[in-house]
Amino acid sequence: MHKPRNLLITGGAGFIGSHVVQRWVLQHPEVQVVNLDALTYAGNLANLKAVEDASNYTFVRADIRDGEAVAAVLRQHNIDTVIHLAAESHVDRSIDGPMEFLDTNIMGTATLLHACREFWSVDGNGAASGFKGKRFYHVSTDEVYGSLGADGLFVEDTPYDPRSPYSASKAASDHIVRSWHHTYGFPVVLSNCSNNYGAFQFPEKLIPLFIHNIMEECNLPVYGKGVNVRDWLWVEDHAAAIEVICREGQLGETYNIGGENEWRNIDLIRELCRIMDGKLGREKGSSEQLIRFVEDRAGHDMRYAIDASKLSSELGWRPSIKFEEGLERTVDWYLANGDWLEEVTSGAYRDFYERQYGSR
Ligand code: NAD
Ligand code: DAU
Repeated sequence: MHKPRNLLITGGAGFIGSHVVQRWVLQHPEVQVVNLDALTYAGNLANLKAVEDASNYTFVRADIRDGEAVAAVLRQHNIDTVIHLAAESHVDRSIDGPMEFLDTNIMGTATLLHACREFWSVDGNGAASGFKGKRFYHVSTDEVYGSLGADGLFVEDTPYDPRSPYSASKAASDHIVRSWHHTYGFPVVLSNCSNNYGAFQFPEKLIPLFIHNIMEECNLPVYGKGVNVRDWLWVEDHAAAIEVICREGQLGETYNIGGENEWRNIDLIRELCRIMDGKLGREKGSSEQLIRFVEDRAGHDMRYAIDASKLSSELGWRPSIKFEEGLERTVDWYLANGDWLEEVTSGAYRDFYERQYGSR
């Protein structure tokens, strides 16, 4: 079992990263956690109020593409374990502006790997370390496998077939991580996960965007016919899986993570509308009136679905809650955290939002 002592989490101010940070800081006081994040539009320190004063938590604002800054953090905090989540993560943004995705997701990952290898290859006496006690965990996505038809599931050795600039950049980063393992014996572990949902997700991804739009009585833009399928996972279950893999995953191995929970977009949206009508005390069916079928996403992948049996049989992880319960909890969280929504959508995003979805 790997036992992190000084853990660096990249992208810890983002959606999934903030849950990962909270889990390690609050449940493992013996672990010193350093969160390195550039605070792009998607990173927000308001996601981390629960840990900001904890004695085992440090925040460093830095860019993963800045090799010197990364090396300084590794040295200063004597980092032995990295969980790497920092990335540009939204498919639509990657279609509009691919270069930032290639730069951050590919060069950022390579820069981190390079700095860690340099720092970890010698021990305190200047001798070759064999990377003993060190581990680099790369968090990735099921989108690297491409798009499924009506049947079948992604397994760990499904051939890569990424189809958006985002998924291609993540695929490239996965290959680079594996190449460090094969070439240098560098200690890596990887996971590829399906769509996450839950608290602190920036309201540009389907579920939080549509919750926000229903709250504001704005249109719900459903791409194409709404028949694309995604496999949804409660973000805290992803954070739990990441901990198990970080501690017990075999070096050089990849683990798929998924919710066994496939939904067609339109069915999910109708369920969300039903929950929101009830929570907001609005007339039954009123949120569905906001649905608009709009032009499809360019290159829209039809279906993602994960076979997570390797993770469950080898490491004993399973999703903990049912989707209907998780979705209701998520809605409750957004309704109770209007201040957070206000904070993350202020400024440039508010102008974009009003242009895109119309005012209430
Ligand atoms: P997010 O967009 O919410 O957060 C990304 C974080 O990375 C932000 O805090 C941002 O400030 C930071 N960041 C971006 N560029 C950076 C840079 N150059 N240097 C330092 N920090 C930088 O993303 P998320 O949805 O939480 O996803 C986290 C990771 O998990 C990503 O690697 C993503 O590919 C992967 N993933 C996401 C999902 C999902 O459903 N959201 C599913 C599977 C895998
Ligand atoms: O599968 C894992 C991936 O899931 C992660 O790697 C990505 O970081 C994450 O963003 C997510 O990608 P998707 O493209 O699947 O998620 P998104 O929430 O953007 O869209 C979900 C589905 O809803 C997709 O079929 C497109 C559709 N959609 C999305 C938006 C934002 C709409 O119909 N309308 C919308 O406005």
